[in-house]
Amino acid sequence: MITIFGATGFIGKELVQYLVENNYPVNVVTRNTIKAKTLFSQSVKVYDFTYNTLLELINKSDAVINLAGENISSGLWTKSQKQKIITSRVNTGNLITQLCIKAANKPGILIQASAIGYYGYNINSTCNEESSKGTGFLSDVCEQWENSTRDVVNYGINRIIIRTGVVFGKNGGILPKLLKPFRYNIGAIIGRGQNYISWIHIQDEIRAIEFLIKNQHLSGAFNLTAPTPVKMEEIIENISRKYNKPILFSIQERVLKFFLGDLAKEMLLASQQVLPDKLMNEGFRFNFETMDSALTDLLN
Ligand SMILES: NC(=O)c1ccc[n+]([C@@H]2O[C@H](COP(=O)([O-])OP(=O)(O)OC[C@H]3O[C@@H](n4cnc5c(N)ncnc54)[C@H](OP(=O)(O)O)[C@@H]3O)[C@@H](O)[C@H]2O)c1
Repeated sequence: MITIFGATGFIGKELVQYLVENNYPVNVVTRNTIKAKTLFSQSVKVYDFTYNTLLELINKSDAVINLAGENISSGLWTKSQKQKIITSRVNTGNLITQLCIKAANKPGILIQASAIGYYGYNINSTCNEESSKGTGFLSDVCEQWENSTRDVVNYGINRIIIRTGVVFGKNGGILPKLLKPFRYNIGAIIGRGQNYISWIHIQDEIRAIEFLIKNQHLSGAFNLTAPTPVKMEEIIENISRKYNKPILFSIQERVLKFFLGDLAKEMLLASQQVLPDKLMNEGFRFNFETMDSALTDLLN
């Protein structure tokens, strides 16, 4: 039985659908049970955050997946929004840790979400799971987020951290935002476009999570990124070719930084070449290794 926190978001919805289709019993823990019941098939059991009910649930779970957290790009990074981004993650992680410690029957595995922001936002060389923590707000968020469930390993639970790259899918994340200007015939490069994006196709993200659950000897941090980071400019040019629509201008970096502040610096203009060395060494094979193959699939 798999219990998922944060299942009603972009990644969670696709994950639940995949797991249900592959006959895994799935429980979802959500702040909004009414919304979750409309999203998922009846085979998915939906729970709110009532402590005793959750304890029973964790007792019955073989695996717990924690994806929950305030959306990173839903608003300007004001002081209060930054606090929300941190506390929403750390509080959920702490709760899961308490539940795991208290449960008489402990889950075998906890998959803890994190992000490649851990490595910092401006890295000139490639990095992998051996690389150290970087600097910046997102790097600090990731560290606190990962640490919020650190203690479960002292109670015999195998913990896997998934440091996810920029997820490309039809139904959420960055891609619909990149496509929007082309729909209005105002295709644009963001900044100078020379920054590297470490990305992953949503299908590979879900397959990698299943791979990590199934291969029980694995533990620690894994980068969930395709093996070929690509420049932002190449992504926009590829979309332009596939849509047969021109790129009319570029949005200057200083304009983005002026209006969006750290959000622009650490997300839109971030440059990271993060490689999935551990996944590949363990024999995971990506269905979408190149951005061209991913966009060909997603823009179909
Ligand atoms: N999408 C990406 O490209 C990407 C890349 C790297 C890392 N990640 C991380 O992976 C996780 C899943 O990504 P996603 O794109 O599916 O995120 P998402 O669409 O923003 O969904 C996150 C889920 O977290 C819960 N949540 C939202 N705000 C919350 C709050 N203030 N307090 C507690 N829970 C809250 C919600 O679940 P309920 O409303 O059901 O409670 C929501 O469905 C996120 O934590 C994200 O930061 C995503």
